[in-house]
Amino acid sequence: MAGLIPDKTLEEIRERADIVEVLSDHLTLKKAGRDYKGLCPFHNEKTPSFMVSPEKQLFHCFGCGAGGNVFTFLMKYEQISFAEAARSLAQRYGVRIPEVQTTSRDQRREQLLMINVAAQEFFLRQLREEAGGETARSYLVHRGITRPLWEEYGIGYAPSRWDGLTSYFKSKAISAQGAEALGLIIPKKGGWYDRFRGRIIFPVNDLQGRIIGFGGRVLGVDEEPKYLNSPDSLLYKKGASFYGLNVARSHIQREGGKVCIVEGYFDLLSMAQHGIKNVVAVLGTALTPDQVGLARRFGKEFFLLFDPDEAGVKAAMRGLELFIQEDAFPTVIPLPDGLDPDGYFQKKGGTPQALWSRAVPGVEYAMDILLKGYDLAVVEGQARGVEAVLPFLLQIKDGVRRDLYLQRLAEKTRVKEEEVRAAALGMRTKRARVGAQPVSPTALRLSTEKKLVQMMMQYPEVIPLVVEGGGVEGFEDRTLRSIAELVIQDVQRHGIFSLERLTPLLEAQGVSEMAFAMAFHEEELEEGMAPRIVEDCLRQIKMRALKRQMAGLKRKIKEAEAKGDEALLHSLFLSMKALGPQLNKLQREGLKGAS
Ligand code: UTP
Ligand code: MN
Repeated sequence: MAGLIPDKTLEEIRERADIVEVLSDHLTLKKAGRDYKGLCPFHNEKTPSFMVSPEKQLFHCFGCGAGGNVFTFLMKYEQISFAEAARSLAQRYGVRIPEVQTTSRDQRREQLLMINVAAQEFFLRQLREEAGGETARSYLVHRGITRPLWEEYGIGYAPSRWDGLTSYFKSKAISAQGAEALGLIIPKKGGWYDRFRGRIIFPVNDLQGRIIGFGGRVLGVDEEPKYLNSPDSLLYKKGASFYGLNVARSHIQREGGKVCIVEGYFDLLSMAQHGIKNVVAVLGTALTPDQVGLARRFGKEFFLLFDPDEAGVKAAMRGLELFIQEDAFPTVIPLPDGLDPDGYFQKKGGTPQALWSRAVPGVEYAMDILLKGYDLAVVEGQARGVEAVLPFLLQIKDGVRRDLYLQRLAEKTRVKEEEVRAAALGMRTKRARVGAQPVSPTALRLSTEKKLVQMMMQYPEVIPLVVEGGGVEGFEDRTLRSIAELVIQDVQRHGIFSLERLTPLLEAQGVSEMAFAMAFHEEELEEGMAPRIVEDCLRQIKMRALKRQMAGLKRKIKEAEAKGDEALLHSLFLSMKALGPQLNKLQREGLKGAS
């Protein structure tokens, strides 16, 4: 069980672990000045923008914004929790972790995971041994899913009763509240009843192979809903996991990172039955950005096998876009009309070889889909076709690919290549113009607050100045304010600032990415410049806070005037009068500083 690791032990791990050493297990890093450089493992790139600083013991990717320390790296790279990362580092560097009690959240997770394991035991036995499981067994056989596959994927059965799992849990003294939180049982007056009844059960695992949820299919033809899934819980988040991941992982590795993505449980099982096991299924939602991110962590090359119906095509297009925005270029395997992958394999001649021969590059597929509605034999059709496809192609960041696909579009529509390019350019500049707003006051304000926090991180000696100068109270940006407060706290507690030490706290508040980005944007300042910049930032922040205050007062004065509230008006004028000189003073100081 994952226990709470004492701060002292974490400190020891942090001291012994070397970020360059640990990251070098997973990546190729080259020395670049004081830092190391490499290809970012968290997004696809050809030129390295992933920096590792041995001095700071931090990494940061200028391409995708990922950043952190050696713990964060392992958490992200191996999809593990902080405690698990700490344990793995402790083992590597020979640090002993004393066992203490777990945090309540970790404890809760452990408890829920145990309940899922118990439920799984129940479902498995129902399918394999119980008389009631006979219909389910014959159903699976009828669908061509053989026993070894049940074992491999842990397929089970929920009996057609209201109190199957419920009484099993009772007999095992398993917490009904916990089971309810997982959606396995549902409360009713005076008790609970089973969510899954008379269904084939498919456990859903996370990257570590733990059961986080279940899906269940009815046996009959017209029962509704056909599939029932676990609701979201502390363990399970719809749209953030895949079915079949636990089995697929090793097969994906064996296949050099190739991953097939299908839509349904039986599509996946049918493919597995035909020897294709590097497959995951999306589970009843369109592919989400979370899933694309997850897929990029365990795979390199993606194959989308979606139904050819309207919904399937739409899902494939959406999925393609998500991957393309992440600089990944999936292959689409369009299936013959009316067939999902399962249906495909049930038909005569549905062999894996025949399936692979259908593969088309995703962008080609998308272009053909987008051009479908246009008659390319007439001028209007050609012109509109080009217009329809260009927005899709412009999402491609990689210049070489974008260029080549523009060329393909010209070929497909038989429009001169230079005209297609001109149209693309027109669309891009138009978009850029819409996107490029004049620098807003918000952006300016942000840049001052950002600058100040950056100075605090890079020149911690200025922190007392910030504290004396009114601290960060005038900050409007909550993220920056959190970071600034944590930095100040760290210095006040330890006398010296360490972003490394601060990482878990930054993570916990969800502000680490911005913090690392700022820490890495280094500036070499002349001696004595840092305090001047800090004073300037503080002054600007204060001036803006004052102006906000004055604007608020003005509003209130107007209201008081409208109401004729003389007493209020008087006190408001007094407050206003006090603010004016303060603002003037700050403005004067600013001028002095600038000269
Ligand atoms: P489909 O309706 O295409 O079902 O849903 P299927 O996979 O072909 O199932 P079989 O072959 O009839 O058994 C595709 C996927 O969408 C989810 C399931 O994950 C399913 O596998 N789904 C579908 C639900 O979550 N709920 C539903 O009611 C239907
Ligand atoms: Mn099907």
